[in-house]
Amino acid sequence: MSPVVIIAIVVAVIIVVAVISSRKAAMSGGSAKSLASTWTVTEVVKETPTTVSFGVDATLDFQPGQFVLVRPNASLPWRAYSFSRAPGQPLRLTVKRVEGGKVSTHLTTSLSAGDRLEVKGPYGQFLIPAIVTRGLFIAGGSGITPFLSWLQALDARAWPFPVTLIVGNRSAQEQILKAELDAFEKKSNGKLTCVHVTDDVQGPLTKELLGTLLAKVEAPSFVAMCGPEPMMNNAKEVALAKFPGVTVLEEKFSASADSIGDGPTEQLELMQDGKVKPFDVKPGEHVLAAARRAGFDLPSGCEMGACGACRVKLIDGDIGIPDDACLSDSEKSQGYRLICVGKAKGKARFESAP
Ligand SMILES: Cc1cc2nc3c(=O)[nH]c(=O)nc-3n(C[C@H](O)[C@H](O)[C@H](O)COP(=O)(O)OP(=O)(O)OC[C@H]3O[C@@H](n4cnc5c(N)ncnc54)[C@H](O)[C@@H]3O)c2cc1C
Ligand code: FES
Repeated sequence: MSPVVIIAIVVAVIIVVAVISSRKAAMSGGSAKSLASTWTVTEVVKETPTTVSFGVDATLDFQPGQFVLVRPNASLPWRAYSFSRAPGQPLRLTVKRVEGGKVSTHLTTSLSAGDRLEVKGPYGQFLIPAIVTRGLFIAGGSGITPFLSWLQALDARAWPFPVTLIVGNRSAQEQILKAELDAFEKKSNGKLTCVHVTDDVQGPLTKELLGTLLAKVEAPSFVAMCGPEPMMNNAKEVALAKFPGVTVLEEKFSASADSIGDGPTEQLELMQDGKVKPFDVKPGEHVLAAARRAGFDLPSGCEMGACGACRVKLIDGDIGIPDDACLSDSEKSQGYRLICVGKAKGKARFESAP
């Protein structure tokens, strides 16, 4: 056999082995870029009485501020959790228990090292913009997680711009990873200023309290906020009033409830397996909720307009979605919509297109 043929065979064998190993790694969660995977929990750390952080055996390419969808088992729904460390560090998710919450209660009370989790992602557009001269970050409760990832990334870049971070928690006991925030602040040489408020001392982050806090902040070029919806609404209104025209980036951690009204229902049509399947949507009802009420099993993930798992394509008519739903202008103009946050806007026909 000629040396050229031998070299060709050796190269072919190397390529086949590399492909097989990378597939195995992806299936075990060990791939550097993974879309759907199973991860094994390596450690669980109690951060506060209601919050845990956990590490996993995987690696993943993601950007600071992104999240994954997690499902502890097939009997529980998918939920979104942001990485609380920057890329390149051991993966860490930090979860705060929500009263009566299905997934957060499981993760904060029953999770142990060795448990397996189904994971999809990464997803998300809550990313540090390229050009910022001064940042104002506002976090409520578990909304600190993507900022921990941002701060670690900014720390690694020697703080390219100054940042004020306002963090609200229920009490000092409930402050999530405060020691880590203190360490970033200390190391930043004055570039990072953390303002901690707790409900039991200063009160919750109402418009009044935010107005007082923002009066002491130098005008930012960029405001980012993350947390439960009521806090986010307050923060956005106050920030825009105090700093007109400032760029605002939001990551909502809780979904807007359906605001179902009494008016006439609208009929929408789902195209499935070549058949037209009509169902009624109440005024103000999310299309996904209405489709479920009618017995259709459609894919979904975060159910907050953040991951794209419930994406559909319009065949006719329109479905109204909020501006912050994670679809690009080009996807919207091609007729894609997210039905977890979409509401009827007259008659429409669509098909699933995740
Ligand atoms: C992009 C994104 C990233 C997220 N990252 C994190 C994270 O890093 N850490 C984390 O702890 N959570 C995070 N969340 C919230 C998380 O996805 C779940 O919504 C939360 O854990 C509750 O899920 P559950 O199944 O326990 O509650 P459910 O069973 O869905 O809800 C129980 C009740 O609580 C209300 N509720 C749901 N979510 C919240 C909330 N966040 N605050 C207050 N009330 C709520 C519901 O309306 C319902 O009444 C993120 C959400 C999004 C959209
Ligand atoms: S389920 Fe995530 S965007 Fe609709």
